[in-house]
Amino acid sequence: MKKEVRILLLGDADVGKTSLILSLVSEEFPQHVPLRAEEITIPADVTPEGVPTHIVDYSAREYFGEEFLVKEMQRAHVFCLVYGVDDEKSLESTRSYWLPKIREINDGDNLSRPVILVGNKDDLIMDLEESPLESVLPLMNEYPEIETCVECSAKRLKNISELFYYAQKAVLHPTAPLYSPDMGK
Ligand code: GTP
Ligand code: MG
Repeated sequence: MKKEVRILLLGDADVGKTSLILSLVSEEFPQHVPLRAEEITIPADVTPEGVPTHIVDYSAREYFGEEFLVKEMQRAHVFCLVYGVDDEKSLESTRSYWLPKIREINDGDNLSRPVILVGNKDDLIMDLEESPLESVLPLMNEYPEIETCVECSAKRLKNISELFYYAQKAVLHPTAPLYSPDMGK
């Protein structure tokens, strides 16, 4: 079993990556967030699996260069790939940009770093609306790297600790890729 877990958040600008990290850390929704959160380390004794966990932010607005992104991706054990449930374009670019990129990096290293697909800003859609999860299922089929998908809200502190726990679990207890239409529900 790995002695530590390194989680990297990826996704388009404005989907709430930094807000998710700061919400986890402070247990409240930050009104103002920097572009990129400092790397945080959760000590072993407060993680459910007892393994120190590093959480690393990436900002789509700050230009680090392609090489930097690739290096961070290679250092990570698992990706939380975030889109905004109110932002169809950000979901589309998980398909057109992020997932192919993740596959390229994984293939290059002959590793299968898992992906947690995160639909943030869940508070912005009403309960009665059709869940965008419908559009996510074909993606999960196409990319078995996606270990699970989760809808959350940094604003309402909904499913925040869960999503980081899923990421830890995906590294520490990898499962064979298995497609199930009930996944993530
Ligand atoms: P980049 O650093 O530009 O890549 O963006 P980011 O993914 O880090 O997004 P950030 O955390 O800066 O959030 C972008 C905006 O969305 C901010 O105005 C946040 O307050 C808002 N936001 C983040 N999470 C939520 C949420 O769960 N619900 C709502 N309603 N707004 C949110
Ligand atoms: Mg940010």
